[in-house]
Amino acid sequence: MAKIKIGIIGLGTVGSGVYKSLQNFDNVEIVKIAVRNINKPRSVKLPREMLTDNPFDVVNNPEIDVIVELMGGVEPAWSYIETALKNGKHIVTANKELLAKKGEELFNLSEEHNCVVLYEAAIAGGIPIIMPIKTILAGNRINKIQAILNGTTNYILTKMDTDGASYEDVLKEAQTLGYAETDPTGDVEGFDAAYKITTLATIAFNSRIKFENVYREGITKLRAEDMKAANELGYKIKLIASATIDENNNADVRVHPMLVPQKTLLAHTDYVTNAVEMSGHPIGKIVLSGPGAGEFPTASSVIGDILAIAREFGTTDYLLPMMRCHHHSIAKPVNIHDTYNKYYLSIKAPNAIGVIAKIGTICANKNVSLSSILQKGVNENNTAVITVITEKCLERSIKEGVNELTNELPDCEVLSLIRVAE
Ligand code: NAP
Ligand code: HSE
Repeated sequence: MAKIKIGIIGLGTVGSGVYKSLQNFDNVEIVKIAVRNINKPRSVKLPREMLTDNPFDVVNNPEIDVIVELMGGVEPAWSYIETALKNGKHIVTANKELLAKKGEELFNLSEEHNCVVLYEAAIAGGIPIIMPIKTILAGNRINKIQAILNGTTNYILTKMDTDGASYEDVLKEAQTLGYAETDPTGDVEGFDAAYKITTLATIAFNSRIKFENVYREGITKLRAEDMKAANELGYKIKLIASATIDENNNADVRVHPMLVPQKTLLAHTDYVTNAVEMSGHPIGKIVLSGPGAGEFPTASSVIGDILAIAREFGTTDYLLPMMRCHHHSIAKPVNIHDTYNKYYLSIKAPNAIGVIAKIGTICANKNVSLSSILQKGVNENNTAVITVITEKCLERSIKEGVNELTNELPDCEVLSLIRVAE
């Protein structure tokens, strides 16, 4: 087996895990590592001359065969990767944002220069998902994915569920414990999961999904009361990244909270664990679950990709053909307003005659059938909370119904509207 020489950009959480774990392999040599600040204290011991604060020293180094990009973000990461590909270097990356936003350009450029780009760590961290789809599942027509792809939000939702605590309180605790970042926007507003499902669906459906067409809602509006109500109704609330594609290449790809039936594996995927459920033919339904982030789980995927290149390096002119991306079709996006879903609604209403009748009439007029409706008595301030679950109906209709209800009964407030998984 030939020895490959790699250059790493980024020696943070993932980069450090990769550096430490690669010490056990004598067919991979780390030549140079770029960081932002050379003088920063590090958890890894390495020769100082191995570090540079100029990533171009790495991507332009003629000795290096593979660039391992572990810095994140679109720019300047893209400029470094673009230069590396033009220099004929293979790429391993964990950068889901770059893949989601620049995937098409990235894979076109890599083919142009006969280089491979591997990115197992970018989707669900330590869970093997890209390589299985590209190899052993290649004979399948996958048409549905439902996944928990963000550990931070799953940790917050699990704590809200088990402790009955508010979103704000759990977020503060998660930040203190180092699970959530100081600026948690990327995770809690669903961007991170949206980046991941963009690439995952593109690969699984073999049809390109554009990130700007992915519908996204985060978890910031979820209430402890919704978690409790969901439990009583036989569900758990999770941030679900979902994607479906039909035979006409119409793709419905989105990230938003969902009530998930308690009998499913996704409902029992707790704390920082990720899970990916895929349905297709001929496999049926499978679920892959495991650690979606963290130093060593993510390093596991990065190292797997490096070793896959190392194994073939120097033995062929066209490395890893099955792992390459050739998307000739671009999926047609389905607008969220045109989708059919079941819904959970929590409505605060005055304790007045005819309120439930009004809710029923508006729903009937909008062709929305109710599956359950529940009011547990009356509050001290003479209001009531009415919980409704609908049957599958058009998103546009339920949104119009909610507007109509609050227009006709201004004292009514729709506290929550959450989609329900089947
Ligand atoms: P991190 O801890 O913030 O580390 C980022 C590293 O990149 C640092 O070493 C930093 O240098 C370096 N860096 C940043 N900007 C740079 C620049 N302009 N030039 C040179 N070096 C630069 O990030 P991370 O958590 O390891 O994440 C890295 C990538 O993996 C991201 O794309 C992330 O989305 C992805 N990922 C992370 C996880 C996870 O569990 N953390 C899981 C899956 C995927 P300094 O050390 O000098 O600041
Ligand atoms: N921020 C991500 C998460 C980890 O919370 O799952 C990196 O993909």
